[in-house]
Amino acid sequence: MSTASSSAGAWRIHNHELVGSTNDLAAQQPGWNVVVAKRQLQGRGRYKRSWVSDEGGIWLSAVLPTPGQPETWAVLPLAAGWALREAIQSLGVTGLRLRWPNDLMLGTAKLAGILVERFNPETAVIGIGINYANSPESENPELAGMTTRLADLLQRLPAREQVLGALLAHLSIAQQRIEAGEVEAFLPALNRAWQIKRVTVTLNSPSRVVTGAFEGVDTQGRLLLALDSGEKLCLPPIEVELLREL
Ligand code: BTN
Repeated sequence: MSTASSSAGAWRIHNHELVGSTNDLAAQQPGWNVVVAKRQLQGRGRYKRSWVSDEGGIWLSAVLPTPGQPETWAVLPLAAGWALREAIQSLGVTGLRLRWPNDLMLGTAKLAGILVERFNPETAVIGIGINYANSPESENPELAGMTTRLADLLQRLPAREQVLGALLAHLSIAQQRIEAGEVEAFLPALNRAWQIKRVTVTLNSPSRVVTGAFEGVDTQGRLLLALDSGEKLCLPPIEVELLREL
């Protein structure tokens, strides 16, 4: 049960003290609902990793409507990264970049991560973990030096509600642009968020490792690569097992 509910624009916000994973609670919600927790006991990340979700972080799952053809929404996980970066920049943090596909980084330190899950065809659950004033390394010492948090990047830490408001506003923009078929116009902004030049990519089925120049993504969220061999590749995210920046 949520401890409090409120609204922001089209969004209905459900606040919790402690949950397993906000993504699991959001799975049962219709579009424009968001589940926020102060702590998660079973926070999960991409590649089936666990996600440290200690007190002081912002752990949330926003449910976005995804009407129409599923292919239309292939770009959504990348657009969510764009929305996250824009939102945090709007709070005054500079120098942020996305690490493929949608980790929010300052240099080599991770500020936030995104796990997009589809539980039904009508919606996508955008799970976002933001290091706000927490200390992930106190729960997992291996994270020492690998993360950063908003409290260390801003002289005046905005309220949690302000961070959430900025994020939900930008997620709405991303959803509306995709639904309106405006991805083409949106791509340059998306591609600027990465600042990646050369990469080594591990592909699955058939397994293959390739190296070349990162040329951004197309309207379906496919990765565009110009290999050193001269070959051009256009890879759906599902075929990209690992992308390493060089
Ligand atoms: C990653 O970088 O691997 C993605 C991390 C996503 C973590 C968030 S926290 C809120 C939501 N609930 C979860 O269990 N995971 C996501």
